[in-house]
Amino acid sequence: VGAVAASEMFYKLLIVVFLAVSLQGTPSDGQKKKETLLSEKVSQMMEWASKRAVIRMNGEKFRRLIRAPPRNYSVVIMFTALQPQRQCAVCKQADEEYQILANSWRYSNAFTNRIFFATVDFDEGSDVFQMLNMNSAPTFINFPAKGKPKRADTYELQVRGFAAEQLARWVADRTDVHIRVIRPPNYAGPLMLGLLLAFIGSLAYLRRNNLEFLFNKNVWAFSALVVLFQMTVHSNASFSFQSYIHGSSQAQFVAETHIVLLFNAAVTLGMVLLHEAATSDLDVGKRKIMCVAGIGLVVLFFSWLLSIFRAKYHGYPYSFLLG
Ligand SMILES: *[C@@H]1O[C@H](CO)[C@@H](O)[C@H](O)[C@H]1NC(C)=O
Repeated sequence: VGAVAASEMFYKLLIVVFLAVSLQGTPSDGQKKKETLLSEKVSQMMEWASKRAVIRMNGEKFRRLIRAPPRNYSVVIMFTALQPQRQCAVCKQADEEYQILANSWRYSNAFTNRIFFATVDFDEGSDVFQMLNMNSAPTFINFPAKGKPKRADTYELQVRGFAAEQLARWVADRTDVHIRVIRPPNYAGPLMLGLLLAFIGSLAYLRRNNLEFLFNKNVWAFSALVVLFQMTVHSNASFSFQSYIHGSSQAQFVAETHIVLLFNAAVTLGMVLLHEAATSDLDVGKRKIMCVAGIGLVVLFFSWLLSIFRAKYHGYPYSFLLG
C-alpha cells in the first residue's frame, strides 16, 4: 500500500513540475500582446522618422505613441505655434534650430530607434497643450523611455537659448544619446565681406597709379552702408552683455537697446572721423591722429557688437577679434 501511495505522489509531483515548467516557458497572452504592440509602435515611429527628421504629431498620435505604454524609446517634443496668425517669431527661429538638431541625428551613423524628435503644433493638437497644462510656446519636453517626464525633462529655454548645440547638450544629459550638430553653412556673411573686398580690390587695381580714392568720401560712405546693412539684417534677433543684456534672443532689457545704440553710434563716429581725416585741411599730424582714432573706434566697437550678438544668439557662427 505504501509503495502505491508513494508512486502516486511521485506522479502527482511530476505533473505539477511539468505544468510549472510549461507555464513558465510560454509568456502569457498579455505579455505577447504587449510585445507586438511595442514593436508595432517602434516600426511606426521608424517609418515616420524615415520620411522627416521631425515627426509631426496631433492629439491622437501623441496619446497612442507617447502617452500610452508600452514604450522603450525616448521622444523629444517641441510644442510650438507655427501658424502665421499666432505671430510667434521665436517659434520659427526655434524650429530652424530644432530641424538642424533632428537632421543631425537622423543622418548620423549613430541613428537608432532609441530616440525620436517630434513636434506638436498648437493648431493641430491644442488638446495636448491642455492635457499637459502648457501655456507657452515654444517648449521642449523629453518623454523618457521609462516613466513620466521629470522637472529636468523640460528644457530651460529662457536660460539656455534654443541653439541646436545647447539642445543637443540637454538631450545628451537626459537620454545619453550624443548628437554632433552639423549646420548647413551660412554663406551670407562671408559673401558680403567677399563682395566688399572684391570691390575695394578692383578699385585699388583700376586706380593703382592714383590711390587718392582711399580718401574719397563715397568709398567710405559705401563701406559704412554695407556695415550698417549687415547690422540691421541681424538686429531682428537682437543682441548679452552680463546683466544688462538678456542671455537669449527671447527678450531684451531696455538698457540693452541703449548699449547697442551707443555701440552703433561709436562705429558711426569712427567712420565720420575717418572721413574728416581724409577731407579736412588740418595739418598732417592731427589728421593722422583722427585716422587712427577712427579706425580704432570702428574696429573695437564693431567687434564688440559682434561678440554681444554671439552671446545673445547662441548659434551665430561669426566673430571678429573678440570671441
Ligand atoms: C524596443 O522594442 C522593440 C520591439 O521589441 C525592438 O525592436 C527595439 O529594438 C527596442 N528598442 C530599443 C531601443 O531597445
